[in-house]
Amino acid sequence: MRKFNKRHSEEIQNPKSTIQNPDDAFEKMDKMYRHQRYFYDLTRKYYLLGRDRLIKEMKISDGDNVLEIGCGTARNLIILAKKHRGAHFFGLDASAEMLKTAQRKIDAKHLENITLKTALADEFSYDETFDLTGKFDACFFSYAVSIIPPWKESIENALDNLKAGKSLYIVDFYDQRSLPVWFQKTLKGWLKQFHVKYPKELIPFLASLERNGFGKLKITPLYKRYSLLAEFRKAI
Ligand SMILES: C[S@@+](CC[C@H](N)C(=O)[O-])C[C@H]1O[C@@H](n2cnc3c(N)ncnc32)[C@H](O)[C@@H]1O
Repeated sequence: MRKFNKRHSEEIQNPKSTIQNPDDAFEKMDKMYRHQRYFYDLTRKYYLLGRDRLIKEMKISDGDNVLEIGCGTARNLIILAKKHRGAHFFGLDASAEMLKTAQRKIDAKHLENITLKTALADEFSYDETFDLTGKFDACFFSYAVSIIPPWKESIENALDNLKAGKSLYIVDFYDQRSLPVWFQKTLKGWLKQFHVKYPKELIPFLASLERNGFGKLKITPLYKRYSLLAEFRKAI
């Protein structure tokens, strides 16, 4: 089995280094979400579109271990954990503050099939971070790729921690090309304040992984290209 951690991202054009000091990444996210976490779910439901479509499309069976990378307040994990009582859900996030809100919500719903850890997307591993003996049956990023500077390394790390033949899913902002220009500009300005940006290289990067034999890619544009849903099935 080929290893993704060989930094495939460095093999294709990657002009700017995205490597961050891990301490900075934890601190930056805590600073951003320390107060926002109290109204995060209420506000985000109007513009983080496509999350329910992702939840609907994910293939999950009893006994599966499923990981969300950058899980925030666990909004997605809670819906999934209620829907698939026989599966176990794991969430990791750089912000321990976000995870406090997430854990509170999980406890209030008495859900026992969710485990959370503070960790970085490009550094975690199924065994050291989650104490598991095997890789994940599914991994997903929901509006996290657009906020994680080392997103390529994070995608590679997710694939490293995924079983062969299983899927990595991504839902995030797309290019909004089919929407009015004024809308594209307004959204771009709004997202800038949260350090969020549609990574133009995302699809070429995933396509290059596919070309290099790492798996099979399916892209579904949603809401006139407001957002996109990607499924990358890891090669066997
Ligand atoms: C826009 S929120 C999305 C939260 C959730 N996935 C959702 O759909 O509601 C992005 C999350 O990614 C987390 N994050 C940012 N950089 C990260 C990193 N390097 N590693 C892990 N999580 C990170 C943030 O702390 C935040 O909770």
